[in-house]
Amino acid sequence: MNKVPELHEVLYLSTLAPGAPLKTVADIAARARRANQTSGITGLLVFDGMQFCQHIEGPRKAVLALTERIRHDPRHVDVDILHHGPLAQRRFRHFGLGYTAVEDVDVLARLRDVGAEAALAQFLALVSTLDLDG
Ligand SMILES: Cc1cc2nc3c(=O)[nH]c(=O)nc-3n(C[C@H](O)[C@H](O)[C@H](O)COP(=O)(O)O)c2cc1C
Repeated sequence: MNKVPELHEVLYLSTLAPGAPLKTVADIAARARRANQTSGITGLLVFDGMQFCQHIEGPRKAVLALTERIRHDPRHVDVDILHHGPLAQRRFRHFGLGYTAVEDVDVLARLRDVGAEAALAQFLALVSTLDLDG
């Protein structure tokens, strides 16, 4: 019998690379949604005009490989992993990559220094208030 792959999640914060056009974000979201479906990854990308906060979840190997690709992507800088670890059950199973923009530039910035558990809890509280485009 095949073993069900262990689920893993990653939450990070990053900043749009200086000089990158805003349409970068739409490009990323459109391509990522398709790619994530193929590799069994679900999650959410929140953008505030300057910073990204993304949650990705799925089979551990796929999540770690994607995290490495994202960390080295020159379209953003200062990639800061806020939380990562095993996950019992997917949080966003309906989203290949849910995408949403927020206007308040402080809400993502506040996640940076609160610690892993609080960052995750605050991110989940934030997304529960947002209109998601899946
Ligand atoms: C903020 C941000 C979020 C991204 N999210 C994803 C994602 O969820 N899934 C994905 O496949 N690529 C995502 N990417 C793109 C990856 O960094 C990478 O370009 C993509 O996986 C293709 O990699 P490859 O060209 O090495 O195949 C994201 C990039 C950025 C800057």
